[in-house]
Amino acid sequence: MLTGFILCSLRVVATQKLRYPPNKIAVVGAGIGGTSAAYFLRQKFGKDVQIDIYEKGDVGGRLATIEMEGNQYEAGGAVIHPLNLHMKMFVKELGLSARTPSGDLLGIYNGDEFVFEESEWYIINLIKMLWNYGLNFLRMYMWVEDILDKFMRIYRYQTFDYSFSTTESLLHAMGGDDFITKLNITIDEAMQKSGFTQRFIDDIVGPAMRVNYGQGIEINGFVGAISLAGTDSGLWAVVGGNKLVCNGLIYAAKAQLIKGTVSSVQEKVRSTKSGNTVKLYEVSYATDTGTGLDMYDIVVIATPLNKDIGNIAFVGFDPPIETFSRPYQQTVTTFVHGKLNASFFGCSKASHFPLSEILTTDNPKLFIRSISAVSPTKPVPESHVSKASDLRVWKIFSAEVLTNEQLRQLFESYHAVKVKKWLAYPKYNPPEKLPPIILHRSIYYLNSIEWAASAMEMSAVAAKNVALLSHHQWYEKAEHIDQENLTERLKSEL
Ligand SMILES: Cc1cc2nc3c(=O)[nH]c(=O)nc-3n(C[C@H](O)[C@H](O)[C@H](O)COP(=O)(O)OP(=O)(O)OC[C@H]3O[C@@H](n4cnc5c(N)ncnc54)[C@H](O)[C@@H]3O)c2cc1C
Ligand SMILES: *[C@@H]1O[C@H](CO)[C@@H](O)[C@H](O)[C@H]1NC(C)=O
Ligand SMILES: *[C@@H]1O[C@H](CO)[C@@H](O)[C@H](O)[C@H]1NC(C)=O
Ligand SMILES: *[C@@H]1O[C@H](CO)[C@@H](O)[C@H](O)[C@H]1NC(C)=O
Repeated sequence: MLTGFILCSLRVVATQKLRYPPNKIAVVGAGIGGTSAAYFLRQKFGKDVQIDIYEKGDVGGRLATIEMEGNQYEAGGAVIHPLNLHMKMFVKELGLSARTPSGDLLGIYNGDEFVFEESEWYIINLIKMLWNYGLNFLRMYMWVEDILDKFMRIYRYQTFDYSFSTTESLLHAMGGDDFITKLNITIDEAMQKSGFTQRFIDDIVGPAMRVNYGQGIEINGFVGAISLAGTDSGLWAVVGGNKLVCNGLIYAAKAQLIKGTVSSVQEKVRSTKSGNTVKLYEVSYATDTGTGLDMYDIVVIATPLNKDIGNIAFVGFDPPIETFSRPYQQTVTTFVHGKLNASFFGCSKASHFPLSEILTTDNPKLFIRSISAVSPTKPVPESHVSKASDLRVWKIFSAEVLTNEQLRQLFESYHAVKVKKWLAYPKYNPPEKLPPIILHRSIYYLNSIEWAASAMEMSAVAAKNVALLSHHQWYEKAEHIDQENLTERLKSEL
């Protein structure tokens, strides 16, 4: 038995020694997912591997700013939760800094009146909440807290090098059947089951889903809970723009950025100098100057594989690799520098209109999902702040591009408009079938996780998982993949 043990250990050592390190890794997409994948891949695979990141548009992807009157504003992914530990770590490591957007007074408009309106007085808010919704607000806070607690387990697993081969097993390791069940039901059903009132769900939860995911309470319970966590206090953003994290990560990862569009991935067999054969992936791409090919040991797809977004062909695979062309939800972001028309929201005197963030309930006659006054990504010197405070920069989310007529209704006057159209996040429709992470031997799909929930931190969590998973698969360390009962097992390891 002892000999068996020794032989067995020797074999493990031998296979690890024999396995050569990968030469080259391709990452497709330079959003927060791709750039954080490059960062974690460098950590795992060491300094010698070449890491190429392909990007067809701007670094940052769905993290982008737009310029208005000399200032930059977040046009895509805007706020980060205080417990998003990967994002926090990046900002610290990269020497960036955080800002906390000002606490605005919020109202929820149903097309006729405000069903909820915050005042500057904490005690008045509390009374209003209790009067209208009983203990639902407190309950929601506890409900979200419980989900966040479970979510936080992933950081510990990843610190101890554990990875997961499917998004389901990653979610299961965090929150057990509770998390998996949430993918199968709507946030409406999930909260009803937990005893929330329908009025609370329609008035308060629905508007939060609309502003964060452009969809209503029919989205899955997991993304719904993530969206509610986005109503917590202490949300922050990166000074200068969240996309700076992506630029910084490419640099920190010592990755090479290739400005080009990847069109296909194909498996090729090549013979080595020693007469053996190796299987590699051939990545085809187009740049401004022409087309190119390059060979890789590992490929990480860090973009949605939707035909309108990623549009990458996997050529000659048997069985074929599906490209999951399920629809993404369109969200139009409109920035307007102007004076809001308070009577549009049923208020007569503009000067007595205190709200700077308006969410809406699900009402087909409303052509906006939300509107809020926004501050620039860099603090503006006090002396430059206009004293005419009713003239502000507003950010509007809507399903379609707003017409001039609609803008004239919303604003008393305005003089600058900028529009950015996004395929923003999946169209959620539980029961949710999540795409695989492993598309082929060494092809990994990071954005599988978006079908559970799309957020910056979700992409970063998926990126670290793919870095760990690809490393463990490469060096055949199965004991670090899909382990069960990790919480129990890690209790003893401090
Ligand atoms: C309006 C809006 C508001 C949001 N608000 C928040 C928020 O407040 N907080 C939050 O956490 N999240 C928010 N999100 C979600 C968040 O922005 C995304 O989940 C996250 O940025 C996704 O990052 P990613 O790297 O996975 O994908 P992406 O950022 O989409 O990156 C993919 C990249 O791949 C590139 N690419 C695609 N195909 C190819 C190809 N064939 N070849 C080469 N390159 C290719 C794309 O150009 C893109 O740059 C918001 C999103 C939107 C649109
Ligand atoms: C969720 O639904 C799928 C079918 O869509 C089913 O296979 C699975 O068992 C369900 N999971 C849970 C935890 O309810
Ligand atoms: C403001 O809103 C009211 C009510 O919807 C509308 O009648 C009016 O035309 C809008 N525009 C201006 C400039 O007041
Ligand atoms: C995990 O824990 C459950 C319940 O404690 C147990 O039934 C199961 O066998 C454990 N799985 C493993 C792989 O240890």
